[in-house]
Amino acid sequence: MGKLDGKVAFITGAGRGQGRSHAIRFAREGADIIAVDTTRPVDTVPYPLSSAEDLAETVRAVQATGRRIVARDADVRDYAALAETVREGVSAFGRLDIVVANAGISSPASTLEMSEETWQDMIDINLTGVWKSLRASVPHVIDGGRGGAVVITSSLAAVHANENMAHYSASKAGQVMLMKVVAKELAPHNIRVNTVHPTTVATEMILNDATYRLFRPDLENPGRADFEEAARTLNRLPVAALEPEDITATVLHLVSDDAKFITGTTQLIDAGGAL
Ligand SMILES: NC(=O)c1ccc[n+]([C@@H]2O[C@H](COP(=O)([O-])OP(=O)(O)OC[C@H]3O[C@@H](n4cnc5c(N)ncnc54)[C@H](O)[C@@H]3O)[C@@H](O)[C@H]2O)c1
Repeated sequence: MGKLDGKVAFITGAGRGQGRSHAIRFAREGADIIAVDTTRPVDTVPYPLSSAEDLAETVRAVQATGRRIVARDADVRDYAALAETVREGVSAFGRLDIVVANAGISSPASTLEMSEETWQDMIDINLTGVWKSLRASVPHVIDGGRGGAVVITSSLAAVHANENMAHYSASKAGQVMLMKVVAKELAPHNIRVNTVHPTTVATEMILNDATYRLFRPDLENPGRADFEEAARTLNRLPVAALEPEDITATVLHLVSDDAKFITGTTQLIDAGGAL
């Protein structure tokens, strides 16, 4: 018996990192998966987004569990592509129960010096992209009439200020009120909506030079060890970065029946970082 037997989950940003981890674990727990990620580069992001091979690896790993997956190259800024992918998945699997709006970018920059494009790409992907993901998918959950669960991947940055992250923090804090309003609107349908707020997670979003420099402005060419030294001071528990599976454990809890009366909440997974 899996925790998600017979259910179908739509996950954005499933090509790698946390999104891939959620897809594989959900499949192990009995769910079929509808996945999107994008290979379209975003010029203001200082590290590469997922490749076609990344998404193909997610497909392979989900299928290896014995579950089914519909995976498409779709950008969360493209409502029509999201809606088409979800329609295709629901027609293949017959239902939709769970939505995880996980896709996101990071592009550290000073508030008063960043370009308009840097600000706008962030809001378009991390905030408007979440709304588009919900708009394209949740009506199918409502139509099922069986209730359901939505999780939005926010960040510790929604509640804890760090320099050079104004656009990221604003987008992640914006997700919280989006979540709360939607939680209220969907409660009569027995659909629960929550946000998770991870601290540093060891994925390509932070394992790159731009993030190393953000954490270590005191060094000219900081590397991963230098970053980890600083990250350990952000987290109160003795850890530099969590693993994607650590976030999946909480996301799985929130979308499973174990959390059947938890809605409208902000779940910190921050190793004490907000203390
Ligand atoms: N890594 C961290 O330290 C950390 C901490 C807190 C919150 N988060 C959040 O966790 C979520 C997952 O990030 P991750 O850590 O797995 O990093 P990641 O970069 O490995 O994964 C993010 C995924 O989103 C995809 N994506 C980006 N823009 C997209 C778009 N426009 N359309 C479709 N897909 C897009 C990327 O291709 C990538 O596969 C993000 O929302 C991120 O902001 C990450």
